[in-house]
Amino acid sequence: MSEQNFSILILAAGKATRFKSEHSKMLHRLGGRLLGEHILRAAQGAGPDCLYMIIGHEGEEVRKTFARPGLVFIEQKEQLGTGHAVKIARSELEKCPSPTVLVLVGDAPLLRSETLLKLVETHRQARAAATILTTRLANPTGYGRIVRAGSRVRRIVEEKVATPMQKRIREINSGIICFSRARLLEHLEQLSAKNAQKEFLLTDLVEVFNRHRLKVAAFSVADSREVLGVNDRLELAQIEKLLRLRKAETLMRAGVTLVDPEATYIDPDVEVGQDTVIEPGARLLGRTRLGSDCHIQSYCTIIDSVLADRVTVRPCSVIAMSEIASGATIGPFSRLRTGAVIGENARIGNYVEVKKSRVGRGTKAQHLTYLGDATLGENINIGAGTITCNYDGVKKKPTVIEDGVFVGSGNMLVAPVRIGQGSYTAAGSTITEDVPPGSLAIARSPQVIKEGWVKERSHLKPPTEKA
Ligand code: UD1
Ligand code: CA
Repeated sequence: MSEQNFSILILAAGKATRFKSEHSKMLHRLGGRLLGEHILRAAQGAGPDCLYMIIGHEGEEVRKTFARPGLVFIEQKEQLGTGHAVKIARSELEKCPSPTVLVLVGDAPLLRSETLLKLVETHRQARAAATILTTRLANPTGYGRIVRAGSRVRRIVEEKVATPMQKRIREINSGIICFSRARLLEHLEQLSAKNAQKEFLLTDLVEVFNRHRLKVAAFSVADSREVLGVNDRLELAQIEKLLRLRKAETLMRAGVTLVDPEATYIDPDVEVGQDTVIEPGARLLGRTRLGSDCHIQSYCTIIDSVLADRVTVRPCSVIAMSEIASGATIGPFSRLRTGAVIGENARIGNYVEVKKSRVGRGTKAQHLTYLGDATLGENINIGAGTITCNYDGVKKKPTVIEDGVFVGSGNMLVAPVRIGQGSYTAAGSTITEDVPPGSLAIARSPQVIKEGWVKERSHLKPPTEKA
């Protein structure tokens, strides 16, 4: 094992007390990912020899959610403090031979792998027994304070027991500590819960090390945002905003216009092409990809979908797991869900729902329509209020509409059914039989007029009499 080798231990067993939650903090969403995913990515990115996660509260859920090759879960049944959590890991740490152990807290989502590597390097060069990742905060409330003697750290004082003088110290413990594995295992058992918090505090090891004249160094990270903890819902919202603005900044620098970055919600893995304009209230989520020159108007939600170039999505549309070709226009108030594939220059208008359907190039469905399990060719016009009746109560059935068809308003297309190329269907038709190409289908009862019908009924007022 070289001196550079290290393993990582993530502490994530705690109950989210200040979160006021029944669920593990690791399972709360932040910036489009679960909180636990953020720290795991930072840890994996640093390339440790062994990677452990201490779980406890909602442990089974956490294990199922984050299970991946190379990650070992260790259960802490009772959460007796961060020091206790490390004690639980003793037998695993003894097995993994890397000389250095990085202990991370689970709730530091902005942490970067590079910073971890710098911490390990500082630790190695300082030949310290432990090196604390610290930072300076304008408002350090809630964090453990770093009590120094020159370059050495003498103690970490937790907020709860800090004197007014110590509370003025602005340098704080990020909760991320790099240990020499040998020194850690040698002194870990000296931690006790005989303190004001009645917990085993990992931070108390600093004093223990000092008593044994072991060196405790510090590495202070300049961008303090990186080590911010998420301890309650206020901090969750603050960090959510930071992450959101970080993504917005990246996109704007790459040539995307965000009319109001603070009011735009874009998940970290979303890709957006140049010259695309995104209006306030838009939410682009999951693995969504947008081409260039698109225009995403206000209050649209787009989830796991692919939009080509020059697509316009008008306000209040919801698009999920769908594909839209270039030049198409969607909305306002459209809903595309699972498996909608919209062709070039097609137009899907207000109150139109499309599910598992292909809509060909230049085809229009502009008003009040449902297209489900349908295949539409090119240059079709779907009249207002048309519905593909795709479900017979047991099975979903397909509808096929060939190129150039004109479907009149208010049609019920009872699947399975096919409307041949270039055909017309009359308004108000209920189409139950296939329509051959080039024909007109009228499927409604002829209108009946009964003249004088009202006058013959003495209890009804004829239309000319004033009420
Ligand atoms: C901790 C540090 C504090 C530091 C802060 C940075 C200690 C004693 N204090 O305080 O100095 O400024 O982080 O954010 O270390 N956990 C377990 N098992 C337990 C207790 C906690 O796994 O028995 C886990 C939690 O799930 C959490 C992490 O350890 O991910 C830190 O615990 P938390 O209660 O958030 O510590 P802080 O009070 O924030
Ligand atoms: Ca914390």
